[in-house]
Amino acid sequence: MQVTTAQRWVRRWDAQQERYIPDREERFRVVIDVVRAAVGTGPARVVDLGCGPGSLSARIAAALPQVDVVGVDADPLLLGLGAANTGPRVKLIEADLCYPSWPDRTGLAGPWDAAVSSTALHWLDPDSLAALYRTLAERLRPGGVFVNADQMGLGASTLDAIAGAVREARTARVGTDRNEDWAEWWQALREDAELTPLLDGRDHSTSHTENDLTVHQQAALLRAAGFAEAGPVWQFGDDHVLVAVR
Ligand SMILES: C[S@@+](CC[C@H](N)C(=O)[O-])C[C@H]1O[C@@H](n2cnc3c(N)ncnc32)[C@H](O)[C@@H]1O
Repeated sequence: MQVTTAQRWVRRWDAQQERYIPDREERFRVVIDVVRAAVGTGPARVVDLGCGPGSLSARIAAALPQVDVVGVDADPLLLGLGAANTGPRVKLIEADLCYPSWPDRTGLAGPWDAAVSSTALHWLDPDSLAALYRTLAERLRPGGVFVNADQMGLGASTLDAIAGAVREARTARVGTDRNEDWAEWWQALREDAELTPLLDGRDHSTSHTENDLTVHQQAALLRAAGFAEAGPVWQFGDDHVLVAVR
């Protein structure tokens, strides 16, 4: 795959994701601010869970020159796009976060300084997510952080409806409601002859599972997994950056 092809598809991916997360770039900046506050100025190791084509991994590496990032994702095509779009301090590996052996694939022997995730962990069922959080609590050093940027409900039906309406209004205001959607992006990708050989036959256009955990339930899961503190540091509607401190 040519680098320019990968870059074009990642730019298009970012626009597609902004259809659902109008403040995605600001949310990335908040994640980076949390990582910066936790790791300081020395060398640090950060793992990006469900990294897709590496949008967050690349931004962390660009903003924090002392940080090395390992992105983990189960989708080889997205990883292939990411590999052409991220620099030497980003390593992308293929692994399923529901399999307990995934940390071995990172090649990181010592404790991690931070783990981050963006718009990915709502795909994991609650038991798999609880197991993942226990793994993170084992792998992160004391004082290390887990930072999860994702849409998470508030656990009250009227509030959740209002939070959804707030996000939709924001999306219309910034105009990203007109961006290509998830199914259209995958369909267009399938029609690109340069990428056809890399497709593995899975159907990405169908909707994936949602664990529907609220931000409060997520924080409780993290505390139960061994994190000392857990709570949101940023919110817009139902969009959150949830931080847990080891
Ligand atoms: C909506 S994308 C977000 C990608 C990226 N974090 C971003 O913000 O652009 C969700 C990603 O989670 C990945 N994912 C979902 N379940 C996974 C699992 N069990 N193991 C590894 N990756 C997973 C998908 O392959 C996909 O790349």
